Amino acid sequence: MSRIVYVNGAYLPESEGKISIFDRGFLFADGVYEVTAVIHGKLIDYEPHIERLERSLGEIKMGWPCSNAQLRAMHEELVKRNKIDQGWIYMQVTRGAADRDFKFPKDVAPTLIAFAQSKNLLDNPDAIKGVKVVTVPDIRWMRRDIKSVMLLAPVLGKQAAYEKGGFEAWMVEDGMVTEGTSSNAYIVKDGRVITRPLSEKILAGVTRRSLFRLAKENAVSIEERAFSPEEAYEADEAFLTSATNFVLPIVEIDDKRIGGGQPGPVSRRLREIYIEEALS
Ligand code: PDD
Repeated sequence: MSRIVYVNGAYLPESEGKISIFDRGFLFADGVYEVTAVIHGKLIDYEPHIERLERSLGEIKMGWPCSNAQLRAMHEELVKRNKIDQGWIYMQVTRGAADRDFKFPKDVAPTLIAFAQSKNLLDNPDAIKGVKVVTVPDIRWMRRDIKSVMLLAPVLGKQAAYEKGGFEAWMVEDGMVTEGTSSNAYIVKDGRVITRPLSEKILAGVTRRSLFRLAKENAVSIEERAFSPEEAYEADEAFLTSATNFVLPIVEIDDKRIGGGQPGPVSRRLREIYIEEALS
């Protein structure tokens, strides 16, 4: 069955969802995006995703493509029209289509597109056995706090991990892990969760934000500091977070087994707590 996608105000079969070859997202990666999970038809952590979108748009000096209410209605409509039980909504805003010129075009409407994707997020077999991570150099630009569609470095990183049998790549800069190509990175030592503090070097994950709140409510302590791959190899546990994976245990980093090669208790507990709240 063909999906129904959203393109600049219209709901269309995916084969009819088209944008201009002059779109600045296509030519310059001049745009930003969000990915919001759906469980049992409900959008998860919708508001913080939209807050982050607002921030990303502001940082690249773009206005809103539509009203907040229209954006929410679009998300809900895509869930409904595509009968999404579990999965996510991807939305992207670009600076629109214009003659190719680096500086901002004048009086050009932004392009807003969105689509839904189904995925079984709750019974993810990767969460039961844990995943493998490979480290790669972080070759991204300096403003990783902006959720930009400029994703070539993450694409190359993820492919390098995949070619080594990995699920995710952890990117390393100045000897320290920044984050995953599409997730935030954590280790656990002596019951404490360790993760890098927010800055322009990483994306402020929405799942990270919820995890911090849930950890506090459940007396799990989090230490915000950078860690090296070497420290991660010696950790009791490791995990990643993202909207599409929630909390996902990691059992191997660069061919070194973590926590005996099994998902650890803190990671499993945090995943359970996150899902419990999402279902409530
Ligand atoms: N990626 N760091 C990076 C570089 C990311 O691309 C993402 C999300 C995260 C986690 O953020 P959140 O918890 O808000 O999903 C961290 C999305 C899922 C993607 O690109 O598909």
